[in-house]
Amino acid sequence: MGELIAIVSGKGGTGKTSLCAAIATALATSGEKILCIDCDIGLRNLDISLAMSDTCALSFLDVCGGGYDVTSATHHPQYPSLSFLTAPMNCAAENIDLSAFHDMLRIARAKYDRIFLDAPAGIDAGFQLCANFADRVILVTDASPASIRDAAQAGQVLERMGKAQVRIIVNRVSKKMLSAIRVTIDDVMDETGLPLLGIVPDDGSVTLAAAFGLPLFAYTDEGATAACRRIAKRIQGRTVPIPKKQI
Ligand SMILES: Nc1ncnc2c1ncn2[C@@H]1O[C@H](COP(=O)(O)OP(=O)(O)OP(=O)(O)O)[C@@H](O)[C@H]1O
Ligand SMILES: [Mg+2]
Repeated sequence: MGELIAIVSGKGGTGKTSLCAAIATALATSGEKILCIDCDIGLRNLDISLAMSDTCALSFLDVCGGGYDVTSATHHPQYPSLSFLTAPMNCAAENIDLSAFHDMLRIARAKYDRIFLDAPAGIDAGFQLCANFADRVILVTDASPASIRDAAQAGQVLERMGKAQVRIIVNRVSKKMLSAIRVTIDDVMDETGLPLLGIVPDDGSVTLAAAFGLPLFAYTDEGATAACRRIAKRIQGRTVPIPKKQI
């Protein structure tokens, strides 16, 4: 059975979508069959981070509605074992038929090694939709006080939902910034009360790759790409240390 992974945050703009695309790509290039589902209804942009915005893609509602099989999800032009379902534009997360959504995920688990749900920011209906059915939740935060506080809040909601497998990624890390604001990675773990899945450096390549319509992995092998490769290996259960130079 494939694993269902929700990528969430408390605060918006922490890098969920960028990291979802990059980690999914890392796993796909390691030979796994991956499905990415954009669950940010109305504000979708996972297609941009995947460099698939020029590719016609079904929305997950097309599949939930019974019109298409989940394996009709669009294959990535460069990474064929990576498939994608976009988010519908004209629908509220509150109005998604939970049992149809669950059925789609149940079928997807049988067809893919891992399924990523890219959640909207916050702890509202879209967050619940993604976290509800997930086996594992990745909470993305940066080191700013507002982001850490909102991550802690989201972590508490996940705990109340009974989610045991929750780990954080601290994104956009720069040694200079951490020392200027006097925050350590340990502080982030202490304040959220959650174990660390990985650290991703602040890397202009993330924005540049998206602006040039390229997958991050096609743009550079270093920085955020290398960090996402390490995170992908940890998701696969491998022990991969965090390089000293990152912290
Ligand atoms: N490691 C990074 N280094 C530099 N820039 C980054 C990094 N990660 C993300 N970004 C940039 O931060 C911005 C927000 O990223 P992204 O859209 O992935 O966040 P998000 O959490 O999905 O946002 P939203 O809450 O709106 O869905 C983008 O411009 C992206 O290019
Ligand atoms: Mg996003």
